[in-house]
Amino acid sequence: MAELKEKRHDAIQGEIIHVYDGIEEADNELPLWWLWTFYGAIVFAVFYWFAYHEFEAAPLPPQEYAIALQERASGGEVSEELLVALANDPEAVSAGQALFGEHCAVCHRERGEGNIGPNLTDPYWIHGGGPTDIHATIDEGQLQNGMPAWGPTLGGESVQQLTAFVLSIRDTNLEGKEPQGERWVPGGGGGSAAEEPGDEGAAPEAEEAAEAEETDDAQDAETDTEASGTPT
Ligand code: HEC
Repeated sequence: MAELKEKRHDAIQGEIIHVYDGIEEADNELPLWWLWTFYGAIVFAVFYWFAYHEFEAAPLPPQEYAIALQERASGGEVSEELLVALANDPEAVSAGQALFGEHCAVCHRERGEGNIGPNLTDPYWIHGGGPTDIHATIDEGQLQNGMPAWGPTLGGESVQQLTAFVLSIRDTNLEGKEPQGERWVPGGGGGSAAEEPGDEGAAPEAEEAAEAEETDDAQDAETDTEASGTPT
């Protein structure tokens, strides 16, 4: 570095304080417009940090993008394909797991093995074990039976993530609350289909029982006469 022997004063740049490789450096005041963009950037950074990272007042761009994609994929409604895809997406499942621990574990336990609410890991389902069945139960609840509706409180995306988590623990058969509802078979058409044969079967069974009673009565009558006939 060339030592600056004596300070030089440039007509345009003002006082030259430093020279290196023939490049002269002056120390001028920064223009006011430049300073204001600089201060403005500092203020904006503070605002941005609090709005997006501290208070999470708005979704960050990647989240916004994911939400838009999801809305587009579902067309506003959830399809079985979307829910199955989410159940295979580790990110959605772990988001669902976090929500489950926060909102559902009180009644269903941390791993879904059941407490006040049913065991979600066994093959028995009260309201059906299919993706859209589970989504509907979580979204709309079963208020009269003590299962809250989560759609209005948590929103569509969270309900989808929760469904993804429940699907991921379905049929893991954890030791927990005793089975409730109907045995649900994947591809068997869901819970409602499983209930129907039972309903139809109820009528013939009742008839059979009534018939059996009649023949019993007739037999009883026969044996009565036989019995009464023997001593005489
Ligand atoms: C206040 C207790 C309570 C909380 C909290 C709760 N549940 Fe439930 N949940 C229940 C009860 C009780 C039932 C059974 C409803 C019935 O018998 O119709 C149930 C049923 C369900 C079912 C259907 C089970 C079946 O056999 O068809 C699913 C799925 C479910 N809950 C998921 C969730 C999720 C996910 C959350 C958290 C967002 C949650 N629940 C929070 C009490 C609760």
